[in-house]
Amino acid sequence: MTNRYAFVGGEQGPWQVTEVRPIFGEGLVPASRVNVVNEALVEAPVGSAWVLQSFVSNIRYSKRDELTMLRAVQPSLNRLEAVCAVLIPIKKSAQWWDLAQDERRAIFEDQSHHTAVGLEYLPEVARRLHHCRDLGEPFDFLTWFEFAPEHVNAFDDLLNRMRDSKEWEYVEREVEVRLARA
Ligand code: HEM
Repeated sequence: MTNRYAFVGGEQGPWQVTEVRPIFGEGLVPASRVNVVNEALVEAPVGSAWVLQSFVSNIRYSKRDELTMLRAVQPSLNRLEAVCAVLIPIKKSAQWWDLAQDERRAIFEDQSHHTAVGLEYLPEVARRLHHCRDLGEPFDFLTWFEFAPEHVNAFDDLLNRMRDSKEWEYVEREVEVRLARA
């Protein structure tokens, strides 16, 4: 098992692209399918429009009580009913990365309530956070979410609340890639 993942936008893969929405900054080249592979790709597969490389890592901000709450309710990925997925690549500003860890945590949770707000949408939404800033990729994070069609509105509500938060003042590029299991 490797902690490396690649998201390939192209013509192949189990996820059909229903919409690509640039939220901040430059979007992504259109693709009809997305494939998620659990490896580091050395070369872009034939026919791919883009390849976003990432790795899963240890937690950075969660405190013990938050982790306990998350682990008690968070569902796993690949649930049968979760036929909707959203890939949201995000890049934060130089100003964010210039902050100290405790200053970032204060903005992330004390001022923006990221975990507290997110917890309200569990167990309906399954998620996985991928890191990529240290790989020299165009984004800092690839965030991945899965849910059943009846929870689309709740997920949109969650996105609005996240984007209204102090944390999002430091987001300089964000793209929403909406997917449906093909
Ligand atoms: C579904 C409910 C959600 C929950 C429970 C949740 C929870 C969390 C937690 C606990 C972390 C911190 C991980 C750590 O300690 O390293 C985190 C990080 C992050 N989440 Fe969420 N999240 C949710 C939804 C979202 C959404 C909708 C987005 C994007 C639109 C998002 C984007 C991020 C990003 C970019 C980070 C990394 C922040 C950084 O390190 O600067 N999350 N999330």
